[in-house]
Amino acid sequence: MVKLIWKNKKDIYSKLEDLKDFPPDFFNSFESHSINSNKERKTINNSKPWMNKLFWGDNLEVLLFLLNNFDEKIDLIYIDPPFFSGTNYQIKIKESDKFYDSIAYYDHWNRDLSSYLQMLYDRIILFNKILSKTGLIFIHSDWHANHYIRLILDEIFGEKRFVNNIIWYYYNKFSAGKKNLPRAHDTILVYSKSNNYTFNQVRIPRKKPQKQLKREMVNGVLKNVKDENGHTIYRIVNDKKMDDVWKIPCMQPASKEWTGFPTQKHHKLLDRIIRLGSNEGDLIADFFCGSGTSLVVAEKLGRRWIGCDISEYSIYLTRNRILDYQNAAEKFYPYEILTNLDTNKSGIIESGFFQKEISIKRKK
Ligand SMILES: C[S@@+](CC[C@H](N)C(=O)[O-])C[C@H]1O[C@@H](n2cnc3c(N)ncnc32)[C@H](O)[C@@H]1O
Repeated sequence: MVKLIWKNKKDIYSKLEDLKDFPPDFFNSFESHSINSNKERKTINNSKPWMNKLFWGDNLEVLLFLLNNFDEKIDLIYIDPPFFSGTNYQIKIKESDKFYDSIAYYDHWNRDLSSYLQMLYDRIILFNKILSKTGLIFIHSDWHANHYIRLILDEIFGEKRFVNNIIWYYYNKFSAGKKNLPRAHDTILVYSKSNNYTFNQVRIPRKKPQKQLKREMVNGVLKNVKDENGHTIYRIVNDKKMDDVWKIPCMQPASKEWTGFPTQKHHKLLDRIIRLGSNEGDLIADFFCGSGTSLVVAEKLGRRWIGCDISEYSIYLTRNRILDYQNAAEKFYPYEILTNLDTNKSGIIESGFFQKEISIKRKK
């Protein structure tokens, strides 16, 4: 087996026994929405009522906390972590008449690839523990580090658990490169926990209807279907089986779903991922949720979810997107926001930050 090595590579497997004692009261809910409303979804099989969970904090701590109760309980994990792009993503904030600049998230790493890989490695080990036996993990990255991430996934999940290398081709992104071809795709690596995983057939619309031979399987061989006069039968198809190259635009400020959060992913991308790898009522998790795209899509598709982000701007946007959806929806799962309250977080909550009317814009 080939293994990736980096400076000071450590694994947390040996520490996991001690970490199992991670305090079960480390994260506490500081806000919850819609308990006992008639719009609430009932949990499948009348089991204990479920509340979706949005964690504000470092996902390593959240993962250790979840090991208490969610070992092999998550049906689908999607993550869109920092890509080792060498940039810190800046935003402009407007709050009443005040304007100020801030950082949405950091992706500079002082150019230290080892610390970036170690950050992902620790988390991927824990993802493997909380993913259910029939679950799938989708890891989003780009040319900066996807070649390393694939080797890490091979090491932790096993190379036999590789399912797909999805190419997200975004044709509408400006590229300034003069000495290379425009970089117009991201990679989403898909791995499973076992060889028996949820995988739904997803069909996507064709640009134009297409005339196709009608075919059927006869004794394991695909044959053209003929009518009683021996003529081949045609049919008109409006959709096609989805393959592993997905042509979906980048989010644009003109979209009504646009939040202003840098690197917000397109909801259509998440719609495909969640439909492909989960069923209604399944539990989806995104530990780098940013503006909450995956969670809003999960909610719309009737999946339960756990989200996490370290940035208050992410929590602000995700909270509002979920509330907006719930206001208009017929049915939804109630949800709570949890954190480990330190002085800084208490100050932010007490200032009423999450209830304020603010607008966030990506700073170019
Ligand atoms: C690429 S963005 C996610 C964008 C998201 N998919 C969307 O559609 O808006 C990466 C996110 O990871 C978060 N993040 C980075 N390190 C983290 C950590 N250790 N724990 C939790 N969140 C983290 C950042 O704050 C940022 O919001």
